[in-house]
Amino acid sequence: MRPTQAPYPITRLRRTRQSPAIRGMVRQNTLTVDDFIWPVFVRSGEGIEEPIPSMPGVVRRSVDKVALAAREAADLGIPAICIFPYTGLEERTEDCAGAWDPDNHANRAIRAIKQAVPEIAIMTDVALDTYNINGHDGFVEDGEIVNDRTVDALVKMALSQAEAGADIIGPSDMMDGRIGAIRAALEGASHQNVMILSYAAKYASAFYGPFRDAVGASGALTGDKKTYQMDPANSDEAMRLIERDLAEGADMVMVKPGLPYLDICRRARDTFGAPTFAYQVSGEYAMIKAAAQNGWVDHDRVMMESLMAFKRAGCDGILTYFAPAAARLLNGA
Ligand code: PBG
Repeated sequence: MRPTQAPYPITRLRRTRQSPAIRGMVRQNTLTVDDFIWPVFVRSGEGIEEPIPSMPGVVRRSVDKVALAAREAADLGIPAICIFPYTGLEERTEDCAGAWDPDNHANRAIRAIKQAVPEIAIMTDVALDTYNINGHDGFVEDGEIVNDRTVDALVKMALSQAEAGADIIGPSDMMDGRIGAIRAALEGASHQNVMILSYAAKYASAFYGPFRDAVGASGALTGDKKTYQMDPANSDEAMRLIERDLAEGADMVMVKPGLPYLDICRRARDTFGAPTFAYQVSGEYAMIKAAAQNGWVDHDRVMMESLMAFKRAGCDGILTYFAPAAARLLNGA
């Protein structure tokens, strides 16, 4: 229980808001560069930086350019980078074999970054959607997204990433049982220090639209992801998923999308006390960018306020496309 507050005028809550110095003194949460994981898109080719129209300021980079971007991120103090592959329709197959190819763009990017920027942590994406002819995160059999066969493929994919040098495996697929299976495989292959950041509470969200453009999945996707991603109406189910993923060996958990789901972040943090992350997803980024480009909101202030909201909700960190821009502001540049 809260101690009782004296009534006005004994208590005047404006007293502690009277100057920047006092506001700073009583500030409860802080946002730092340490809080960021920066998602980047990697594609084939060399010397390429290709803009993504629905995500102003975000590009798809060839492997050489991703390594340069990682250098910049580390120099800004960003602790981790998360690699997402872009694949054209011609690179997608029904058997999704590209997903565990040791030489796919994502794995080549991991090796290039490890060599060029050993101090930055590398996170991956584990899901079949970027290699699947039909854009789903799992194999499709007679219209059903099948679970157990998909988990076997996800394990191979995660192992290929760990072999390439990934520090943090990021299963974003929402299949049942994948965390335990990946954890067992990592232990079995002497990758006991490789971490798992589970996309534990991932909702079937319309806010992923621009991301699907970015990874080339928009044209590919048939149907929706509602049989594996969560119903936005549910909250208790998110707690069950997080509890299960932690029990299966996840080191850290994620809530996704971010801002519309801050209640889930707060519940997760209060219930489990495990390292908790939120993903400020592509649609959230695009909305802020679009409004700012129209002059309707102040870009930098809205960006920083949105990121601080995650800290207030109890998150330890945020996956955000704003990471370099926010880091520059925090570093006083
Ligand atoms: C797919 C994946 C998605 C995102 C990350 N991994 C999209 C989806 O589930 O369709 C979305 C990220 C974003 O919108 O920024 N495994």
